[in-house]
Amino acid sequence: TVALNTAAKAAGKLYFGSATDTPELPDSAYLAILSDTAMFGQLTPGNSMKWDSIEPEQNVFNFTGGDQIVALAETTGKLMRGHNLVWHSQLPDWVMYGTWTPQTLTSVIRTHVWTEVSHYRGKIFYFIASESSVVTLSQDAWDVVNEPLNDNGTMRADVFYDILNSSYINLALQTAHAADPYAKLYINDYNLEYASPKIDAMVQLVEDLLVAGAPIHGIGFEGHFILGEVSGTQLQTNMERITALGLEVAITELDVRIQLPATDADLKQQKADYMTVVQACMAVPGCVGVTLWDYTDRHSWIPSTFPGQGEACPWNANLLRKPAYDGIAMGF
Ligand code: XIL
Repeated sequence: TVALNTAAKAAGKLYFGSATDTPELPDSAYLAILSDTAMFGQLTPGNSMKWDSIEPEQNVFNFTGGDQIVALAETTGKLMRGHNLVWHSQLPDWVMYGTWTPQTLTSVIRTHVWTEVSHYRGKIFYFIASESSVVTLSQDAWDVVNEPLNDNGTMRADVFYDILNSSYINLALQTAHAADPYAKLYINDYNLEYASPKIDAMVQLVEDLLVAGAPIHGIGFEGHFILGEVSGTQLQTNMERITALGLEVAITELDVRIQLPATDADLKQQKADYMTVVQACMAVPGCVGVTLWDYTDRHSWIPSTFPGQGEACPWNANLLRKPAYDGIAMGF
């Protein structure tokens, strides 16, 4: 069967990728598959570029983990997705429980976003053949703001919103844009894959940001699915609502979790679900690529976060391909 990044590119997408992180890299059998450029053309660090890793103390920056993932992407010819700059979770205590005024928190966000994006500016380059010529574009993409919305469509009341209202979003975007003018800047969120108040709110948020002149280039659809709950038509419609505004979209954290123990019928359904997601991306020209939230059940975040659920990835814990693999290949 065909390798997945090769299939994605042959189908006109920019990449097929995977999340990974430094604790997994000593697993040499895992690393061998991850490194295969025909299989994966893009990497997202699962944790090591988050605020608590990058700036654990105010003005103390630690890029060690993120740098390792960037180095792997460079040596194996992959694109990078930076993940993420401003998020309510995995925040260090000094941010979460600080006593902020709008002025001081603005300065904290500026310093964090500027320093991190500047550090990684221009690390990864990608060649795009346009109709008339071949141009070199920076294809650094950043999840600048992660999960700003509640499922009911209101803004999440985190420390950023409490102090700065929704203005923190444009602030983070402007700062990232100034630090790396060629990077694609995203807002990334979950439960955008269905008809719901949340996708309505995201469309409204994008419209407001565009009116305000904010540098916003894409929306990430995380794609953490429950077995049998993928609707290809809703996913396609929601992605089209975003691309109609002139933005790109990406599936940024795909997995399909199963109530354990998984049966053969479950694995068959999972194959169909993965195929449906890839087909929806294929149906939307502005959907640039698909990223797994790690490729194997051996290193998936699902069992520890959703007790009783698992087997969410296309490779099993022994690094063998599941039916889901063929579902992805067929989707492209
Ligand atoms: C997850 C990581 O995979 C876990 O290792 C960590 O303990 C918690 O965060 N949405 C996101 C990701 O945007 O950053 C999250 O990653 C999964 C949900």
